[in-house]
Amino acid sequence: MSVPDAHDRPVLDIDPFSRESMDNPIALDETIRAAGPIAWVPKYGFWISGQDAVVREIFEDWRRFSSAFGTGLTNVVREEPWRKPSSILEADPPVHTPNRKVLARVLSPGALRKMADDFRAEAERMVDGLLERGGEIDIATDLAFAFPFKVLPDAVGLQPSGRHHLMPYSELNFNAMGPKNDLYLAARKVVEEQGTFEYVAAQMAEENLIPGGFGEEIYGYAHRGEISHEDAGMLVRAFISAGIDTTVFGIGIAIKALIDNPSEWDKLRADPGLARAAFEEGLRWFAPSPVIGRTTSAATEVAGVPLGAEEKVMMWLAAANRDPVRWDDPDRYDISRRTVGHLAFGTGIHGCVGQMVARLEAESVLGALARKVSRIEMAGPAENVHINWLRGYHRLPVRLTAA
Ligand code: HEM
Repeated sequence: MSVPDAHDRPVLDIDPFSRESMDNPIALDETIRAAGPIAWVPKYGFWISGQDAVVREIFEDWRRFSSAFGTGLTNVVREEPWRKPSSILEADPPVHTPNRKVLARVLSPGALRKMADDFRAEAERMVDGLLERGGEIDIATDLAFAFPFKVLPDAVGLQPSGRHHLMPYSELNFNAMGPKNDLYLAARKVVEEQGTFEYVAAQMAEENLIPGGFGEEIYGYAHRGEISHEDAGMLVRAFISAGIDTTVFGIGIAIKALIDNPSEWDKLRADPGLARAAFEEGLRWFAPSPVIGRTTSAATEVAGVPLGAEEKVMMWLAAANRDPVRWDDPDRYDISRRTVGHLAFGTGIHGCVGQMVARLEAESVLGALARKVSRIEMAGPAENVHINWLRGYHRLPVRLTAA
């Protein structure tokens, strides 16, 4: 429950980025949702909402709720951002519009259909390899991580060398959206020591991209004058920043959900065509990217609560995705559920432009597991990941039984 403060704001006294919150995510989500439509979090000085209807209202009104001040805790217009803001994620129309159009075309369903066979073959090869190895494996590292870290950089056209920089860069990106705490500082140290910024800058450059990938296609739009060359580089960077870890943790979450819910694993085994549904319900049930922020462009009101100008509003997607007003039996992982309208990919003009790629990747992995594996059992404790802006598993020790 929230309580009013001296300014008569409903206040929720929590730290969503503490280790305790990260290790008790469902309790945190319930607290946020129960606080009412919107509440002020004094520790960081932002508004928070975990109710489906309110989150949806904010997503759908970019004029009142801007992305150009940054979608994390930092106001990137007033404070020094850790890197140059994104020309798509951290932009409002008109800057956002041409960049979004380019990525939407590059990632069109037709383009992705061409990749589907390669993704499926790669997933089957990886699952076969794990079965041949036998014994205990860490499915978080050896599959949920290994697959996206192979297929997405290949699809973009990144050079094969230096890819060990991708994970630390992505970790820094998602820590930097949150507070400048120990997690952020540690991730930043790794990146600085390893020369990761130099690696990323080099990958964004046109001359370093392998022809035939998304990267080359993005630069094609720059050559035709639809976007600037600088923005083309930023869009390549968007793949590296936003496209890999999110999918890694989304796949791991679905695998863990299937292990913990044997009836749903049985359904998937009986019909591997449900692989996409198993992923999608996993995203609803335990969103890997649990929060995204906006900034009020002027004083406004949400659910009767007055908000000042240039105040941050955090949409707690993970909580909204289990809002009982929107979802029947929301705490149940049910792969037969109609999941249309979950908020794990956001919605509105910034709704995830890579969602079809993420689905294709996950469908390939979960489909291969369903066809080739009869049983997955935990062989040790799962370890949560500790990244400010992400959720999922860092380690999932399992034993697989071949079908
Ligand atoms: C399970 C996997 C994924 C999740 C949970 C996820 C989540 C999200 C969310 C919540 C947003 C909305 C941000 C906002 O409203 O401010 C978003 C936007 C975005 N995502 Fe994803 N994403 C995933 C996979 C991907 C992939 C695979 C790619 C690239 C291939 C990608 C690229 C992007 C980009 C570029 C944006 C910004 C779009 C815009 O501002 O118009 N994402 N994603």
